[in-house]
Amino acid sequence: MKVDEKKGLKVAIPTFGCQMNEYDTQVAAGLLAHQGYTLVEDESEADIVLMNTCSVREHAEDRVFSRLGMLGKAKRGNPDLIVGLMGCMVEEHREKLFKRFPQLDLMIGTRNIKELPALIEEVASSRQQVARIKQDGISIEYTDLIQRDSKFHAWLPIMTGCNKVCTFCIVPITRGAEVSMPAREVYREASRLVGEGVKWITLLGQNVNSYYGAYYGGVTDSATLRQPGSHSNASSEFPELLDMLCQIEGLERISFTTSHPSDATEELFQVIAKNPKISRRFHLPLQSGSDKILKRMKRLHRYEDYKQKINRLRELVSDISITTDIIVGFSGEAEEDYEATRRAIEEIRYDGAYIFKYSVRAGTPAAKLPDDVPQEMKEKRHQDLLALQKEISMGKNRSWLGRTVQVFVEGQSARNADDLLGRTLQEKKVVFKGPCDLIGTTQSVTLHDVKNETFLGRLS
Ligand code: 5AD
Ligand code: SF4
Repeated sequence: MKVDEKKGLKVAIPTFGCQMNEYDTQVAAGLLAHQGYTLVEDESEADIVLMNTCSVREHAEDRVFSRLGMLGKAKRGNPDLIVGLMGCMVEEHREKLFKRFPQLDLMIGTRNIKELPALIEEVASSRQQVARIKQDGISIEYTDLIQRDSKFHAWLPIMTGCNKVCTFCIVPITRGAEVSMPAREVYREASRLVGEGVKWITLLGQNVNSYYGAYYGGVTDSATLRQPGSHSNASSEFPELLDMLCQIEGLERISFTTSHPSDATEELFQVIAKNPKISRRFHLPLQSGSDKILKRMKRLHRYEDYKQKINRLRELVSDISITTDIIVGFSGEAEEDYEATRRAIEEIRYDGAYIFKYSVRAGTPAAKLPDDVPQEMKEKRHQDLLALQKEISMGKNRSWLGRTVQVFVEGQSARNADDLLGRTLQEKKVVFKGPCDLIGTTQSVTLHDVKNETFLGRLS
């Protein structure tokens, strides 16, 4: 196919999972648009549907399987439809999926996104099932072709993979061992983004705190691979990287996610405290408040150590908003373990928490443990914690009312085009009236009400 012939072809990339997937989708969209394809939101009008998948819980996978079923039906009416998968499910299931889903035309691994245009051409001309799934290398692609959905905010992956051994987690299988982008590459890409008008960057990685980009060594041109098992004790270069990125003129805000408690150090907290550009939202997954369960999860932290870290961070950065991830119903979770998690949530008083029901993932160490908390119990604990957290979040949010805060104006509100939507330094949403030319700037806004986690404010 020549570029002109592709111009008519429409591609939809429905995206599941984390921000890393959102980033990869933006890269894939950029590469395809450059080749002449048209990106569309609506799958039903697409000639090519490429699902960017997540494996973290069974539910995420089930949604993709059922969409594959629907696409199979659509294909009977439209045999030219090309159906593809990218993301973590490709890494997890690999070519096995071709047998189960004959409607699937292509699979592309997280380290192969660059080859996507060539792969689509191969499918279109051969009408065979084709896969490109590399085992090594880094699944981060920096490209100026990227299609961001915001002019002012950008995701920036700095590392992928994970060397931790959390027994419930599939990420070490899907994304492999930790690999970091060299610091100078990160710096160059961040500077390039700022040159394009980006003012807010969110650094991404499965565990950004163990970033190891040879900043001081400065010797690597290729990505730096940390050997599995070399976790926790080796000191991270993440605080230095953050500090360095804060020096970029024109860059107003830097966020990062996700952190692991055992790598969240005093040094990191100090860097956050001294740099007002760094987001005042810190996401630190606790998973469970019971030391017995944390041990079964091989989380490498105990509740008391975790709490002390939070206390220290709050001492250094008084306006920090803390959010977390919690799993209920993990193997062996007795009533008293569950109560410990409940107490932890009450004690720490998070600004927000993502609460999940444990879902066994084949191939993870915990898949060998009994999944012994009945489904109804998981459901009950889940609902109970959601309600508790809602109450706490509401109280926390109300304590902001009446205050005037700095808000980064992201765009128009999706609900009402007359309203602007912005984020406080704690990354809380604020809707307020104002002219569109404020988009991309930081404004002082007084918060006067809060509804469903979104503040209503007034320019001051
Ligand atoms: N079951 C339920 N939740 C999980 N998570 C990761 N693996 C599982 C699993 N097997 C949750 C953790 C993690 C978040 C991204 O997803 O809380 O921090
Ligand atoms: Fe899902 Fe984890 Fe893969 Fe992100 S890295 S897509 S959360 S499995």
